[in-house]
Amino acid sequence: MRAIKDMSSIKKIEGFDIDIEKIPKHIAIIMDGNGRWAQKRKLPRALGHRAGVDAIRDVIETSSNIGISYLSIYAFSTENWKRPQEEISTLMKLLIEYLRKEVKELHKNNVRINTIGNIKKFPEDVQNEINKAKELTEHNNGLCVNIALNYGGRDEITRTVKKICNEFLNDGLVIDDIDEKLINAYLDSSNIPDPDLLIRTSGEYRLSNFLLWQCAYSELWFTEVHWPDFTGKHLLQAIEDFQKRQRRFGGI
Ligand code: FPP
Repeated sequence: MRAIKDMSSIKKIEGFDIDIEKIPKHIAIIMDGNGRWAQKRKLPRALGHRAGVDAIRDVIETSSNIGISYLSIYAFSTENWKRPQEEISTLMKLLIEYLRKEVKELHKNNVRINTIGNIKKFPEDVQNEINKAKELTEHNNGLCVNIALNYGGRDEITRTVKKICNEFLNDGLVIDDIDEKLINAYLDSSNIPDPDLLIRTSGEYRLSNFLLWQCAYSELWFTEVHWPDFTGKHLLQAIEDFQKRQRRFGGI
């Protein structure tokens, strides 16, 4: 009986066998390879980033259609400030342009925009656009697109430790109150479950400071595809692979 039920929840979506009852709740993506994509085509890096923004659209659409609850995308890391000023400005411009162009449509599709990371270091116009997008979509209950901006896992943990110390000094928190649940509650991602699946594009096999605490038990999936070439189909391929894995969370 159980086997019959399990089979019936598997649907062919774009050629992939997807168990619609086991869709990961939260997928995190390290969108790598914009620069290499551009270089391969003898184009400026800026055009690689622009193509990278275009790729986000398709992935959001697929995520939303198949019922993923949270999609975290690593758009600007705390280490990205080391890039040439011109490239940083391009990324900021693209972010503003993306939000201005896409937010109404995302809102119509019940998507909620959230951010993690310390956006206070961003130019004011960028901050305003981010805050406007978050406010407009805050009551939506469809897919949550969680954009990591000036985000680093170590920076997030450092800020979290500071917040907890402040509670200890000023608000009567005692050391025995500190446990994983409490630490979670002070992270930028406090209202978001841990990623089930972390995807990294462009053939690099590292976390690069993304969601260090949260990815403790995430399944990792890597592809050689550069981010601008990544589509909803690749996402479905990753989900199909993910669904074949056995997650034990340290148990047996
Ligand atoms: C990696 O490519 C990508 C990034 C540094 C950030 C991703 C940014 C975008 C997709 C565009 C902006 C985002 C939004 C949400 C509007 P890379 O430059 O490291 O590529 P490389 O390793 O091949 O040089």
